[in-house]
Amino acid sequence: MPGFARGSMFPGTLTAPPRAAGGSVEFSLYVHIPFCAARCPYCDFTITIVRERPEAAYVDALLAELRSRWAEGPWAVGTLRSVYLGGGTPSILAPELIAKILDEARGLGGGAFQPAEITLEANPEGLSASALSEWREAGVNRLSLGAQSFDARHLEFLGRGHRAEDIRAAVALARGAGFENVSLDLIFGMPGQDLASLQTDLGEAVALGPQHVSAYNLTLEPGTRLHRDWKQGKLEPPEEGLQAEMFEAIENRLARAGLARYEISNFACPGFESSHNRHYWRRGSSLGIGTGAHSFLASARGGRRWWNVRDHRRYIARALADEPVEEGAEDLTDDDARREWVFLRLRGVEGFAVEEFRRAFKHDVDEVFPGVIAALIADGLVGDDPERVALTRRGRLLSNEAFMRFF
Ligand SMILES: C[S@@+](CC[C@H](N)C(=O)[O-])C[C@H]1O[C@@H](n2cnc3c(N)ncnc32)[C@H](O)[C@@H]1O
Ligand code: SF4
Repeated sequence: MPGFARGSMFPGTLTAPPRAAGGSVEFSLYVHIPFCAARCPYCDFTITIVRERPEAAYVDALLAELRSRWAEGPWAVGTLRSVYLGGGTPSILAPELIAKILDEARGLGGGAFQPAEITLEANPEGLSASALSEWREAGVNRLSLGAQSFDARHLEFLGRGHRAEDIRAAVALARGAGFENVSLDLIFGMPGQDLASLQTDLGEAVALGPQHVSAYNLTLEPGTRLHRDWKQGKLEPPEEGLQAEMFEAIENRLARAGLARYEISNFACPGFESSHNRHYWRRGSSLGIGTGAHSFLASARGGRRWWNVRDHRRYIARALADEPVEEGAEDLTDDDARREWVFLRLRGVEGFAVEEFRRAFKHDVDEVFPGVIAALIADGLVGDDPERVALTRRGRLLSNEAFMRFF
């Protein structure tokens, strides 16, 4: 889910950044749609809840930002790999506004606008056949549906506005509209959830025949209501042993349905791994537009990252006045680049070859991070293959602990 309008997730760049055949930058485009009907109690994304949503003005602001980024950056001569319309709730926007955004990008990109993957994040409630058809016609070819759970108790706990029937209806409508690539987001590890209820969720999910599933362990993000409830002792997440069993149950159940784990939280049928996310995990360049969106421009050493203002009113006012919408920027050091390279590679099940690290950074991984890999192997977080560094099952479960060792 690289939803790039979340504080903790940054798109990045390779030390040797991905380049298109002609030497121009290969990049992905992230478009943030911040509007939501209500804030879910676990969510810390950049969102906007207002009675009168200024949708048209926001989209005009997005187009203004896109044009000015095009005029100033290397994007105009780059190769666009993928587009991701994330949120917030992109499905809340009038479908013609989605088409307007993609038409503008198409116009700016000219012949170079041929992204293989255009994803739209949708909430299951209230999806209509006509909206789905309009998205398809606009060029959207991948639907990421926020199912989260099929269990009414868990959906209520998560503050969701949909029921299991809405998820089933949404997938059926999406298939009817011609979507051949449907991904389901699931959340697990709710208080009180046991293995049997997780298995029911997984069974319901695979029965819908998704090409891709993202299964996220519920994170209690500071600033959210669930985090406050937890601090006040009002809720208790499942204990670690049960979470480990859930992690394994997910991998096994989805594998039986033909969806292989390819990243800590992501599973896909062969050929349906998200190209947008893969580019992010390989630290490819990314242009993010909209409130709170993060961008990254790769360079041979380090690279530059910047992020936008989070308030939609300020964003709209600045973009429409042709003023900068950036709130901050940072230049990466070589050290930052190496650390990010390692922990993003480790997110993938294949990890990285030690030779690949040597080629990218001209040093052995053990020289740059003395003793770290040996300690991770000793703790069972990384496998003991001398040629390849990859997380074990235990390492994937405790991935944050493994990543922190590189800091
Ligand atoms: C950008 S978010 C939400 C997109 C859409 N509005 C929705 O709610 O379905 C993408 C995904 O992140 C996951 N997510 C968000 N916050 C989370 C949290 N605190 N813990 C675990 N997963 C989370 C959810 O599965 C969600 O579908
Ligand atoms: S609908 Fe999605 S983006 Fe909006 S608050 Fe809920 S989880 Fe966050």
